[in-house]
Amino acid sequence: MPLIAVTYVKGRPGATTTALGLAAVALEAERPVVVECDPAGGDLMRRHRLAAVPSIVDLAAAARGAASSADAFATASQTVAVAEVPVPVVVAPAGGAQTRAALPELTGSGRAALAPPDRVVVADCGRLGPGSPVWPLLRVADVVLVLARANADEVAHLREHLGELVDAGAGRLVVLLGAGGAYSATDVADVLATHVGQELARDPEAVTVLGPLPQDRRAAAVLRGELLAGRRWRRLPLMEAYARLWADLAPHLPAVTSQHDVATEATP
Ligand SMILES: Nc1ncnc2c1ncn2[C@@H]1O[C@H](COP(=O)(O)OP(=O)(O)OP(=O)(O)O)[C@@H](O)[C@H]1O
Ligand SMILES: [Mg+2]
Repeated sequence: MPLIAVTYVKGRPGATTTALGLAAVALEAERPVVVECDPAGGDLMRRHRLAAVPSIVDLAAAARGAASSADAFATASQTVAVAEVPVPVVVAPAGGAQTRAALPELTGSGRAALAPPDRVVVADCGRLGPGSPVWPLLRVADVVLVLARANADEVAHLREHLGELVDAGAGRLVVLLGAGGAYSATDVADVLATHVGQELARDPEAVTVLGPLPQDRRAAAVLRGELLAGRRWRRLPLMEAYARLWADLAPHLPAVTSQHDVATEATP
């Protein structure tokens, strides 16, 4: 099943929020497991008052052993409840040392340990930097979702990493504009396409720009574990944006395409 990597290059544009939000609004049949792969350490354990064990350390241990990847995820997952939706998550300790040790074990044999046959995986890869241990994960992902706010400095930093991201040769590279930027998606798409096509001499269509996500304090607080979701939580603007994002990503996630097409068509 598909592996979606969520990352960013500057600021705190909402990668962890997006990983959890995407999983919460996914169709039940394919509800993803969120894996905290941020080399700087995880946030979900503290935000959602989860236990320290199991964690990504257990996922890596299971990958080392003989467990199938489906069994490894079952062993290593805990649950975050977003209203009535139980979202499976593999948490990472704060600090990041254990995550940095676990990542090479999880990606050492390609995508096998991070792409179980029965589950979509959304990996929160944190902030991308040179030599980050998440690069091998990005190379085996079906979609790399790079969060950035549409303002001058974040787009400038993103441009500097774009060549490496395009050359990582992963699946689809999607720049997802976070909340609160100054420029439109069209403006950002033009700047990035020009950079990729003219300065990097690569296919300008290698990058898709989506968003921006709405500024939505209520949904963000729900996904931070600070506010109980009300009955109509799926109608919050950020949750609706994440649901639309699934439809946009579906063509790049072969195993889930048909079901999202049906779900989108069925929406009045
Ligand atoms: N669309 C949004 N509207 C309002 N607040 C948001 C939105 N997305 C995220 N936030 C808030 O912004 C803060 C940072 O979000 P998040 O933790 O997801 O960032 P991040 O990119 O994972 O960065 P880091 O890992 O460094 O924390 C959190 O307080 C979160 O609730
Ligand atoms: Mg984060």
